Amino acid sequence: MESLNKIKTKAILNNVPIMQDAGILFCQDFIRSHHVVNILEIGTAVGYWSMTMALLDPKIKITTIEFSHARYLEAMANVRSFGLEKQIDCVWMDAKDYKTNKTFDLIFLDGPKAQQLNYFNRFINNLSACGTILVDNIDFHGHVANRNQLRLRKNLRHMVEKIAYFQNIVENNPDYITHKYDVGDGILLIWRKYPESIDCDMITKGDSI
Ligand SMILES: C[S@@+](CC[C@H](N)C(=O)[O-])C[C@H]1O[C@@H](n2cnc3c(N)ncnc32)[C@H](O)[C@@H]1O
Repeated sequence: MESLNKIKTKAILNNVPIMQDAGILFCQDFIRSHHVVNILEIGTAVGYWSMTMALLDPKIKITTIEFSHARYLEAMANVRSFGLEKQIDCVWMDAKDYKTNKTFDLIFLDGPKAQQLNYFNRFINNLSACGTILVDNIDFHGHVANRNQLRLRKNLRHMVEKIAYFQNIVENNPDYITHKYDVGDGILLIWRKYPESIDCDMITKGDSI
C-alpha cells in the first residue's frame, strides 16, 4: 500500500494539481467540526483530497468526478489500496454531464477553474439543508488579486477573470453567505441564506470555524 505521502509526492512530481497541505488541514477541520458525512467532489485527480477526508471517519461517503481516464484509474487504484472503496465512489465522467438526485452536506468545486460558476449553478440543488459549497484556488497563486497589474498569458488571464467574476457574483447574491479564507491557495465557503427560524448550527451540530 502506498502511503498518502507517496501519493502526494508522486502527484506533485507528475504535475497533477492537488490541494495544498494548509487547505487539506482546513478541510479536515471543517468536516470534523461540522459533522459532514456526504460529499461531492468535482475534480478527483488521483484521489488525494477524497482519501485524506474519507480517512477521518468511516461514516464519510464521497462521490468524486474526474474526466481524465488515466487519473480516474490511478485514483481507483489508490482508493482500493487503502480499502476505501465503500467510502469513495470514483466516477469517470465530464462533470458537466453528471446528474444525481442525491444531496450532499459538502460540495467541493475543484475541477476546471474557469467553470466554477457553471458548476455552482449545476450542483446548488444538490446541496443539503445547511450544506456548504467549498471552492479551492480562489486566489489562483495571487493572480486574481493582482490581475490588473500583471502581464498574464491570454488563457491564464481568461481563467483568472472568470474566477474573479464567479467570486463577485456569489458574494453579491443576497441568497448566499460567503466567507473567504486566506488558506493555501484561497478557499471560498458558500452557504445558502436561511430564515432565522432555521438554526444551521443545530442542524450541522458543529461550531463555525
Ligand atoms: C485541481 S485537480 C483536483 C485535485 C483534487 N481535488 C485534490 O485536491 O486531490 C482538478 C481535476 O479536475 C479534473 N477536471 C477538469 N475538468 C473536468 C471536468 N469537466 N469534469 C471532471 N473533471 C475535470 C482535472 O483532470 C483534474 O484532475
